[in-house]
Amino acid sequence: MALIREVMTSPVVTGLSSEPLVEIARRMHQHRVGSVVIVKDHAPAGIVTERDVLGEAASGQLATVTAGEVMSAPVETIDERLDAAGALEMMRTRGFRHMPVVAHDELVGVISLRDLARLSTLAPPEVPRGLKGVVVADTEVGDVRGAEGFYHYRQYSAVELAISRPLEDVWRLLVDGTLPETRQERTAFTDEVRPLRTIPPAVAEVLPVIARASAPLDGLRSALSLAAAERGCRPLYDLDASERRADALFVAALTPTLLAALFRLRTGAEPVGPRDDLGYAANYLWMLTGSVPSSEHSQALERYLVSTIDHGFNASTFTARVIASTGADVGACITGAIGALSGPLHGGAPSRALELLDEIGSPDRARAVVTDKVRSGQRIMGFGHAVYRTEDPRSRMLRDVARGLGDPLAELAVAVERSVVEVLAELKPGRDLYANVEFYAGVVMAACGIEPEMFTPTFTSSRVIGWSANILEQAMDPKIIRPSARYVGPPPPEPVPPMEEAPG
Ligand SMILES: CC(C)(COP(=O)(O)OP(=O)(O)OC[C@H]1O[C@@H](n2cnc3c(N)ncnc32)[C@H](O)[C@@H]1OP(=O)(O)O)[C@@H](O)C(=O)NCCC(=O)NCCS
Repeated sequence: MALIREVMTSPVVTGLSSEPLVEIARRMHQHRVGSVVIVKDHAPAGIVTERDVLGEAASGQLATVTAGEVMSAPVETIDERLDAAGALEMMRTRGFRHMPVVAHDELVGVISLRDLARLSTLAPPEVPRGLKGVVVADTEVGDVRGAEGFYHYRQYSAVELAISRPLEDVWRLLVDGTLPETRQERTAFTDEVRPLRTIPPAVAEVLPVIARASAPLDGLRSALSLAAAERGCRPLYDLDASERRADALFVAALTPTLLAALFRLRTGAEPVGPRDDLGYAANYLWMLTGSVPSSEHSQALERYLVSTIDHGFNASTFTARVIASTGADVGACITGAIGALSGPLHGGAPSRALELLDEIGSPDRARAVVTDKVRSGQRIMGFGHAVYRTEDPRSRMLRDVARGLGDPLAELAVAVERSVVEVLAELKPGRDLYANVEFYAGVVMAACGIEPEMFTPTFTSSRVIGWSANILEQAMDPKIIRPSARYVGPPPPEPVPPMEEAPG
């Protein structure tokens, strides 16, 4: 921590108690300081601050009083060798804004609360790179317990919800805080969200242009921006809780329809509208493929979708919350989050795990292929996790889901998983590397007839619900998220160089 002498204002501006206050004020202004130390026999006898000047000016006395009549006296001094944290504590507890600084009883400077505040901005507390492990908010939405291999939505195990509840129940849990307890409550929620799935005509009109220009996930950003504008989504800051909730439901309900339409238009097919007689995942597969899926595929995909709605303070959820903390509208929060998710280090590519399975081809080749890759420094896609040090609970559940579908790819994946875990334990001892959600996600989605291009967009179609719950929670906290960066460039201020005149 810095010492006072490193941050104080020096040389100190001084005055005499007999001087008119107006003269002291002029000196303050000229030297751009917030206080003048009044001295007697070279020792500090009192202090006049900008507040004293303002007070006298407000009561019309500025021109008539002397410094001695308004100064705070006697004045406490502080030693230049004290550290700034000690000074800050002392000034806060005693209520001082300015204090004369002394060295061996000689006046050498003035320290102000403003100097100390500036210091705390210049030297912010150190945090781990990437904010890893730093708690930046309180949440009731859910959490991930990496050491235990467990994650939850509100008070319920996410995996248990995925196995036992339809997606819309879990959507209600995240956004409204409770699971529906009766069929009427369930129907009331589905009746509310299903009409929101229809693409607004102005958006439908430009969707073919968007689909031609961009991949579905990128296209979703443009389409949602337009949809939010068309709806007249206003800043969260200006809305009450029920208006915010309505916007959040709208954006989350529309996302799967837009993604499916963008995908179909890209492949030259016409969009297919949502159907009220189908469950959530069945409707999604219908909108993608134009065929009603089997109940096995619908159930498998619904479990995947429920299991990926939320997962702690990941980069896209954090992004959504940062934007929400500025009071921006729900459309802005969600499109920002999609941008964060689209990065290869986050949304990842479940398709890459599938490519690995393709490359391996048969279980007897798994060891050799994986050993070669790890020895040459490559990462095995679908293994390892930033938070889990155990098996990823999502991968455990999706393994069962994949096997339940009876797809031969699932059996290959199970055999390959075993080999990869063994090889990683041998070549990366002590790192605790197991299959993550990506490894079986691609297997499940492919078995359900989803093209690899739609793997990450399909993940987005469920994560948007987690984002919206987080946005609604963040909107209740009026504090903007605004951290600091450490400046490491050339020291300022350097004079701005003049532009070189052209010769001749
Ligand atoms: C997910 C991931 C980025 C997490 O990273 P992390 O927890 O920060 O782990 P680290 O990058 O610190 O890795 C720790 C060690 O394990 C190794 N490791 C981690 N994942 C590995 C993998 N999939 N294959 C081979 N080695 C791996 C690292 O090389 C590192 O070894 P080292 O200590 O000898 O350098 C990482 O495991 C990974 O790249 N996995 C593959 C991509 C993937 O599946 N992504 C989807 C995630 S849901």
